[in-house]
Amino acid sequence: MAVSLNILIAALSLIAFSPLCLSSKAYGSGGYLFPQFYDHSCPKAQEIVQLIVAKAFAQDPRMPASLLRLHFHDCFVKGCDASILLDNSGSIISEKRSNPNRNSARGFEVIEEIKHALEQECPETVSCADILALAARDSTVITGGPSWEVPLGRRDARGASLSGSNNDIPAPNNTFQTILTKFKRQGLNLVDLVSLSGSHTIGNSRCTSFRQRLYNQSGNGKPDLTLNQYYASVLRKQCPRSGGDQNLFFLDLVTPFKFDNHYFKNLIMYKGLLSSDEVLFTKNRESKELVELYAENQEAFFEQFARSMVKMGNISPLTGARGEIRRICRRVNHAAY
Ligand code: HEM
Ligand SMILES: *[C@@H]1O[C@H](CO)[C@@H](O)[C@H](O)[C@H]1NC(C)=O
Ligand SMILES: *[C@@H]1O[C@H](CO)[C@@H](O)[C@H](O)[C@H]1NC(C)=O
Repeated sequence: MAVSLNILIAALSLIAFSPLCLSSKAYGSGGYLFPQFYDHSCPKAQEIVQLIVAKAFAQDPRMPASLLRLHFHDCFVKGCDASILLDNSGSIISEKRSNPNRNSARGFEVIEEIKHALEQECPETVSCADILALAARDSTVITGGPSWEVPLGRRDARGASLSGSNNDIPAPNNTFQTILTKFKRQGLNLVDLVSLSGSHTIGNSRCTSFRQRLYNQSGNGKPDLTLNQYYASVLRKQCPRSGGDQNLFFLDLVTPFKFDNHYFKNLIMYKGLLSSDEVLFTKNRESKELVELYAENQEAFFEQFARSMVKMGNISPLTGARGEIRRICRRVNHAAY
């Protein structure tokens, strides 16, 4: 009895730990991720990530926003493979210097701290890409947002793509259509675009990311008229025509540290901070209706957000024998110098 049970367990875990065999068409060529991936190899992994995210939040209330954004900027550049975490070295040109990341992406030291703790607990087991996905979920939960089970089993890239980072991540002054096209290129749709943009219910933006709206949105010397003009005049005080590029502003002016649906309420009042935020309400009917739905119904937003986060987290992961489990997230295991 005990023997046959053991055999059964061995057989089951063989199946469970052979993601290559399970490579499912549903996940394309990306391979198969599942929430129980570390249940045997590192049972405390999720608890460790959560503890360190909580500690980081206690020290800096903005940190959950920064961690959530890191996962997004990772997944949109050749998949969720932790490429964003790599520093310059050998042949690697770091994504940290791309336009979307330079002077803006942050939280790297928290990811390294989590990685260090996980290497103590279970060496060379938990990927940096999975740490990013778990930290994004925990960051959402700790600020009051929804929770979800995170599919796991991503492996880490051995390279980065600076051009991918510059081109594939939407810019705050992109048109609605360009942003939607960039999402579609990742297998994400309009519903994912609107719900995931709800991440801007927490965190900050620098002046330089929305200045154009305050002074010369369309090249005619006029401000963006889809921005509440009183709000615009307040913003201009700290975001002058020139200088103050790095000055920080809340993306959600009402509840900047709370993951809620105020972001969507702001859009309806023309108080979205970024052009890419407001266009969700002003440039497309389907997207406008979703903004209205989420502004009315936080549950609907939370439910879709969780679904879309899982979908984003499934973008082209490295599985099976591809990639590696980095020991330190900012460099590959065998860097060529
Ligand atoms: C739809 C297209 C998007 C555009 C154009 C965009 C653009 C931006 C910009 C310009 C900033 C401020 C950067 C700065 O000035 O330092 C920002 C911040 C942020 N973004 Fe997005 N974003 C988009 C979608 C997303 C998505 C899908 C997520 C997450 C799933 C996300 C999460 C965040 C968070 C949490 C912050 C605040 C980060 C912090 O305070 O450190 N964004 N985004
Ligand atoms: C968007 O901003 C970038 C960087 O500031 C600028 O080079 C570009 O011309 C802007 N694009 C549009 C369409 O305004
Ligand atoms: C607005 O932008 C246009 C096109 O980029 C430029 O030619 C013009 O000088 C700018 N106007 C002002 C008032 O800055």
